[in-house]
Amino acid sequence: MAFTFRYATEADVDAIVAIEEASMSCPWNRDNYLEAVNSDHAFIMVALDDDDIAGFAVFYLTPPESELPDIVVAEAYRGQGLGKALLSESLVALKEKGIDTIYLEVRVSNTPARNLYSYIGFEEIGKRKYFYSNPVEDAICMSLRIEE
Ligand SMILES: CC(C)(COP(=O)(O)OP(=O)(O)OC[C@H]1O[C@@H](n2cnc3c(N)ncnc32)[C@H](O)[C@@H]1OP(=O)(O)O)[C@@H](O)C(=O)NCCC(=O)NCCS
Repeated sequence: MAFTFRYATEADVDAIVAIEEASMSCPWNRDNYLEAVNSDHAFIMVALDDDDIAGFAVFYLTPPESELPDIVVAEAYRGQGLGKALLSESLVALKEKGIDTIYLEVRVSNTPARNLYSYIGFEEIGKRKYFYSNPVEDAICMSLRIEE
C-alpha cells in the first residue's frame, strides 16, 4: 500500500483522537493535539491512505533535541511497515529543523514499539521506575542520534 505523509492541521485532530482512543490505555485528549498542531515547538506527522489518516507521530522540538511522546498506527494498518515509514519521514523533517537527537519513553511490555524503535536505531539509555499508570509500569528511555 502506498502512503503519503504531511504535517497535521487542526482539521486532522478528530481522526487522530479516534485512533489514539482506540489504541492507548491513557489516551491524550483533543486539546493536547490542538496544542501540538498550533505550536512552533511541536509538529504531528500524519500518514495518509488516500484521504484517511492511518497513523501519526507527535514531536516536541527543543533544538537540537526533540522528544517523541506519542506514535500510533491505526490497528488495521499495523504490521505493514507504516511505523517504520512514518518515523523515517519524520527524521527527514526533524533534520531540516536542526534536530540531532531524539528521546522517548516506552512501556517495558510494549514489544512492537520497542522493536520498531530499535529497528530505526534508537538505543536504550535508562529506565524510569513506575513511569506509567493504568497499568503501572516502568519505562525504558531511548535515544537516537540522527546522522549528519
Ligand atoms: C508500535 C506501532 C506504532 C508499530 O507500528 P507498525 O506500523 O505496526 O510497525 P511496522 O509494521 O513498521 O513494524 C516495524 C518493526 O516493528 C516491530 N514490530 C511491529 N509490530 C510488531 C509486533 N506485533 N510484535 C513484535 N514486533 C513488532 C518489528 O521489528 C517490525 O519490523 P519487521 O516487520 O521488519 O519485523 C504500532 O504497533 C502501534 O500503533 N501500537 C499501539 C500504540 C503504541 O504502542 N505506540 C507506541 C508507544 S507511544
